[in-house]
Amino acid sequence: MEIIRALPELRQASARLRAGGRRLALVPTMGALHQGHIALVRAGRGAADAVAVSIFVNPLQFGPNEDLSRYPRDEAGDLRKLREAGCDLVWMPEIATMYPPGAASTIEVGGPAEGFEGEARPGHFRGVATVCTKLFCQTQADVAVFGEKDWQQLQVIRRVVADLDLPLAILPHETVREEDGLACSSRNIRLTPEQRAQAPLLPQRMRSALTRIASGEPPGPVLTEAVSDLTAAGFAPDYLALVEPETLRPWQSGPGRLLAAARLGDVRLLDNMALD
Ligand code: PAF
Repeated sequence: MEIIRALPELRQASARLRAGGRRLALVPTMGALHQGHIALVRAGRGAADAVAVSIFVNPLQFGPNEDLSRYPRDEAGDLRKLREAGCDLVWMPEIATMYPPGAASTIEVGGPAEGFEGEARPGHFRGVATVCTKLFCQTQADVAVFGEKDWQQLQVIRRVVADLDLPLAILPHETVREEDGLACSSRNIRLTPEQRAQAPLLPQRMRSALTRIASGEPPGPVLTEAVSDLTAAGFAPDYLALVEPETLRPWQSGPGRLLAAARLGDVRLLDNMALD
């Protein structure tokens, strides 16, 4: 497994891995890797001949009052897990490599970037779209794997790739969950033991709301009740909304996606589930 921190070496390694028509998959991450990330690496292996993983905690996607400095980091643990998972290349750029002095270009996304996380975290998707586009260009990957856990992010990336004619495919991977149903996230380790025990209530309430909606109950009252239950249990829900899967406009009919964000203490939990 090659560990690369400078752009010229990355370009050479990418050319080597892609020689003779071989395909390279990229898994973009911010490190603190868990079983959800490892599932993305395995999906990348299945979709391409070689897998690159980027580890870069991207300052551009954090707001001034967000948890950039407290974002979990574990370089040694990450590299060990990636070796075990059969990763071929790890791209670990410095901030100055990604955003050299004078850098002044960003990617602004409308459509699916509006509302929800886009509203709660102004500038967040500008940061995500900019860093992902740079990672795609730097690695020259043929396919990039994204978890469905960050559903809005996945739709934003798909939009950017389509709008800018970027020459790679986006491969989604279903959300990986802990045994009790909580979606895997690097931020889960910041939950206290009491909060961790409470956290699976979010996916439980989401699932029961979806069952009722699928059986014909109107979404409005069902979701209002779920928000009240979560609030009574100590969550501070930001939103619980049923939307059209790609545009994230309010759900009308057919397949839908239930999006949720709720705070437990100072940890913001995100989740989403399909209404089929
Ligand atoms: O989902 C993440 O970890 C990040 O938003 C990503 C895609 C690696 C961009 O920094």
